[in-house]
This record gives sequence, C-alpha cells and structure tokens, in this order.
Amino acid sequence: MMEESKLFKNEDVLNPEYLPEMLPHRESQIQVLARNIESLARKRKPQNTFVVGPPGLGKTASVKFVFRQFEEYSGIHTIYINTWDYNTSLSVLTKIVLSLNYPVPTRGISKSEVIEKLIELLKKLNKGLVVCLDEVDQLIKKDENALYDLLRINQYVDLPLCLIMISNYKDIFLNLEPRIKSSLDIEELEFKPYTLQEMKDILQKRCEEAFRQPVEEGVVLLCANHAISRGGDVRVGLECLRKASRIAEDENSDKITVKHVRQILSEVKSVKLNLMKEKLEGVEKNIVGLLEGKELTSNQLYDEYVKNFGKISSNALRKHVKHLESIGLVRVKITREGNRGRKYFISLVKRKIFK
Ligand SMILES: Nc1ncnc2c1ncn2[C@@H]1O[C@H](COP(=O)(O)OP(=O)(O)O)[C@@H](O)[C@H]1O
Ligand SMILES: [Mg+2]
Repeated sequence: MMEESKLFKNEDVLNPEYLPEMLPHRESQIQVLARNIESLARKRKPQNTFVVGPPGLGKTASVKFVFRQFEEYSGIHTIYINTWDYNTSLSVLTKIVLSLNYPVPTRGISKSEVIEKLIELLKKLNKGLVVCLDEVDQLIKKDENALYDLLRINQYVDLPLCLIMISNYKDIFLNLEPRIKSSLDIEELEFKPYTLQEMKDILQKRCEEAFRQPVEEGVVLLCANHAISRGGDVRVGLECLRKASRIAEDENSDKITVKHVRQILSEVKSVKLNLMKEKLEGVEKNIVGLLEGKELTSNQLYDEYVKNFGKISSNALRKHVKHLESIGLVRVKITREGNRGRKYFISLVKRKIFK
C-alpha cells in the first residue's frame, strides 16, 4: 500500500492538464464562447470564434470548460482536436467522423469519401456539432485546404458546423485565400494576461484543492509574481508550486512554506535571462519593456517605440533588435513570403525554466 501523502489532498490539481471546477477571471470569455455555440441548440447558425492570446492564459482550458458544460446538454456534440497531432485535412476529418462513433478506417480512405461520410452522419445527427481546432496555426501551416474543406461541408447540411479556433498568434489568417476568409466569418476573442491579483486568485484556488493544509502566507504571492514576470503563463506558477511541493515532501513537511518557494526561485535566478534584462540600458531596455508579455511585428514595435519613447530611426531600432537577438533575449520570426511580403514577429525568448 502506498503511504498517504501528508502534503497532498490531490496532487493532480497542480498538473497543467487538470481542468478545475471553476476558472476564475475568465467568466466573460466563457460567456462569449457559450453564447456563440449555444444557438446550435436552437438549430440556428452558430458564430465561429477565434480565441487568441499568449500562452498559459487559459485559452484551451476555457474552451474545454465550455465543452464540458455543453456535453450535459443534449442538443450539441463537441469535439476537441489539437492540430499539432492532426495537421492535415484528412486527419482532422477522420478524427471528427470517428468521434461521431462511425468506425471509418484511418488508412486507405480518400478525403472525398470521408467528407461524404461526414455529411451523411451530420444529416442523421440530430445535434449541432462544434469543433475546436487548438493551435490551429499548425493546421494552416501544414494544410491550407483544411479549413476550406470543413467550411464546404456546410453547403450540404442544414445546421452549419461551429468552429472554435485557438492560437497564440494573431495574424494567422492573414495569408489565407479570400474565399476561405470570408466564409469563416469569425469573431475574435482576445485573452489578455492576468493581473498579479488575478494570478494570485487562480493559484490560491489550486492550492486549496491540492493541499491538505493552507500554504504559508506569501507562497502564493511569490509564485504568482514569478509567473507574471514570465509573461503571465499560469503554467509557470503551477510549476513553481509543484517544484516547491517536492522540496516540502523531501523534508517530510506537511505544508509548503515561503522557504521552499524561495529555494526554487533561487535556482531559477541562475537563468541568464533575468540577469541580462537587469543589465540592459537605453533603447534595448525600452524594447524589452515593450515586448513584455506580447509579440509585436516590426512595424508595431516601431510605432510603440515612437509613441512611448520618442523618435528613433527604423534602422537603429532594427540594429538593437538584432543585438538583442544575438544575445538570446529576443526572438525574431519571419513569416512565409505572402503577397504582402515578409513580416517579422518579435518577441522575448521564453526559456524552459525548470530543467
Ligand atoms: N482562470 C484560470 N483558472 C484556473 N486555472 C487556469 C486559469 N487560466 C489558466 N489556468 C490553468 O493554466 C494552465 C494553462 O492554461 P491553458 O488553457 O492550457 O493555456 P493556453 O491554452 O492559453 O496556453 C492550465 O493548467 C489551466 O488549467
Ligand atoms: Mg492551449
């Protein structure tokens, strides 16, 4: 028999995959999602939604939360697909057909056969269908036609599919063909970083569910503050708690203390990033400040810079960005050359913090 943990009530709660009973401070986003899907239950056309914002802000959790609620409704069937795992039109369509309980072979079947089958199933299904495509930038990158194939199905059924798409990046639809863009008819739902207080509330709730004893005062603040300084990713806060709990267990302690968390954070401090940031001066310090918690295109960065810090030549700005990139603080991504030419996306480098 495993010995019962002195520390944990339920260790799973600190797992990033765990979906809590409540998602504090995402009430309004959850409401929008629910409203956009809900019309399906009344046999009305749903509103497609694009959920966007930096990592760790509860985008996936919010959609899954709403899906969990709708599973209890009878009139709606929900399917969650992460397109890292299903990155072609055929694999997405097959996954949908399978989740409607039709045993379609996963090999040797053509796309048009799957589409035909899906249309047939949808005609019989007396429910609205919602499909979440998480990390949808992967799908768009790998198979441009996938969205078009999904939308085309709507021409053959009475009740359109409802699409919920999630991405960390804002401009992913920019280079799509106009016919796809216009039939997507999408509402954008932006997720903004949590404030320190909100982060504290979220981590506090998780602690209450995870541990037998209340954590020592200051623990949640330290972890929340750390997460906020890392771009507001809740996962970072959870990881901090998880690491601290390991130290607490090693010491056979029955609760997490500030000392445990400090020990974790001092390990983290050795990560170059923060030290380098502290040393920055002038233009480069300003650039890093502007990029905190968000990704900007080179044009946006330029505009923000001028707005906040006054005149600078775009050439000088570019040189500083290049330098920041060369010391590993900033990442510059270049999009494919579309008809609008290249675009540069600039963001702070996020490091894996706990190794
Ligand atoms: N408002 C919230 N309340 C409780 N947990 C949250 C909240 N927002 C995010 N989380 C948790 O943070 C982690 C990351 O959230 P996730 O939805 O995966 O982020 P994203 O999809 O935006 O990258 C998950 O464990 C999730 O449960
Ligand atoms: Mg996600």
